[in-house]
Amino acid sequence: MQSNKRPPASILFIFGGSGDLNYRKLTPALYNLFLDNWMPDQFAIAGIGRSPYSNEKYLEHLLDGVTKFSRRRGKQNGHWTEFSQHVSYLQMDGDDAAAYHKITDLVKQKEEEWGVHPNVIFYLAVAPQLVPSIAQKLGALKLCGEKSTTRIVVEKPFGHDLESAHELNLLLSSMFAEEQIFRIDHYLGKETVQNILALRFANALFEPLWNRNYIDHIQITAAEAVGLEGRGGYFEHAGALRDMVQNHILQILCMIAMEPPVSFDANEIRNKKVDVLNAIRRITKEQVHDYAVRGQYSGGWKKGEKVVGYRQEEGVNPQSNIDTFAAVKFYIDNWRWQGVPIYVRTGKYLNQKATHITLQFKQAPHYAFPSESAETWRSNRLTISIQPNMDISIRFQAKRPGQTMMLDPVDMTFDYDAVAGEHLPEAYETLLLDVMEGDATLFMRNDQVDAAWQVIMPILETWENRPPQDFPNYAPDSWGPDAADALIARDGHTWINLPPAP
Ligand code: BG6
Repeated sequence: MQSNKRPPASILFIFGGSGDLNYRKLTPALYNLFLDNWMPDQFAIAGIGRSPYSNEKYLEHLLDGVTKFSRRRGKQNGHWTEFSQHVSYLQMDGDDAAAYHKITDLVKQKEEEWGVHPNVIFYLAVAPQLVPSIAQKLGALKLCGEKSTTRIVVEKPFGHDLESAHELNLLLSSMFAEEQIFRIDHYLGKETVQNILALRFANALFEPLWNRNYIDHIQITAAEAVGLEGRGGYFEHAGALRDMVQNHILQILCMIAMEPPVSFDANEIRNKKVDVLNAIRRITKEQVHDYAVRGQYSGGWKKGEKVVGYRQEEGVNPQSNIDTFAAVKFYIDNWRWQGVPIYVRTGKYLNQKATHITLQFKQAPHYAFPSESAETWRSNRLTISIQPNMDISIRFQAKRPGQTMMLDPVDMTFDYDAVAGEHLPEAYETLLLDVMEGDATLFMRNDQVDAAWQVIMPILETWENRPPQDFPNYAPDSWGPDAADALIARDGHTWINLPPAP
């Protein structure tokens, strides 16, 4: 085991302990932190849920999740017994204020056992509508007044719209100090997303070109090959714009567009990011159709398998107008980005899973080569692939080897995966470790959440008030509706699809 500077003693209470997020993501992440020797010497994890589980059955359930979903899968799981001694199940109803003494009792017990007052972390891995009621009951505990050690982690979606997010922020801040609130967006924990900051601010090469003088436009794609995965009930209240654009995609956009930070202080980074959100051009409801496109998948074939349309999915209204695809054009009205369109798109059941960002450079100002030498001439572009490929690639023109002067575009690629191999931590590992250490840099501050909602509200409201005429409008395995191609084609561009992962 490597030797790491590990966080102080911690107790994690996971509300939604028997739920999917804990099963697929949180426990596998905590177990990997344990295997990599990042967990504190003294730690306890209590899964909280209503379902009746014996401790033994609960641990079996969690181990099943680890075996299926951990980045290590079945490999190197030999320390599970050791790890599981720190894990317990607390059966309680989050709505029952009288049951919360179970939490304080456990904290007291561990405090006595360990001889120190530990970090107490409440992770709310529950449906968004349950968050306010649990937070209120937690807020009433004396424990929550301990600003430097008690923390609350809130999963996205943070609110349902600007108003509800605002209310939730008010509620949380009436009980917790801002430094105690960790609003999680797991994209910020992805290695390749964090690497955007390294690329931009640890190199002198890119920053001088990173602006409207050299960049023609930017594209951000977060395509998913999967459909609903049984989350019809949730998705009916969300839609792709809320589920992916309001948070993950806007956060990536902030990393790409922010000004250089003066330091890596959490508030400094977050100030720079919120500046971007505040500078995104607000569109009116009348302009929505020029800037945004929505889609919903029909039934069809997905890689040889027959799949049903969104409206036929379990838990979905057969007349549902929810978007499973969204594409939006943004502008950032500041000195750096004025006039540079930023096209983003996301969707379920698209042709492949691929998250990537492309900065398309402007054409070279003068072209001295004979026209026949440059049949395949292309502008330079820089592509940052987040997943499943993890690489950074620069496209430029090079001479085709041989006696004639012919030019071809070539790619120079840094393969992040090849360097990191299987040791790359998952996003939730990074973020859970940060919570235990009390480092909020990769978490969203209340003003960021508000600003992100403000950006998408006109689109959300317009879509809600004007039912789509053409749903379902894209087939599974495609790249979304034709209207998304038209959105970008109107400006003379096309969406960039990268070759699938090998
Ligand atoms: C979640 C969304 O936040 O992100 C899901 O709720 C989506 O609908 C998921 O599938 C995508 O995450 P990733 O890490 O697989 O790109």
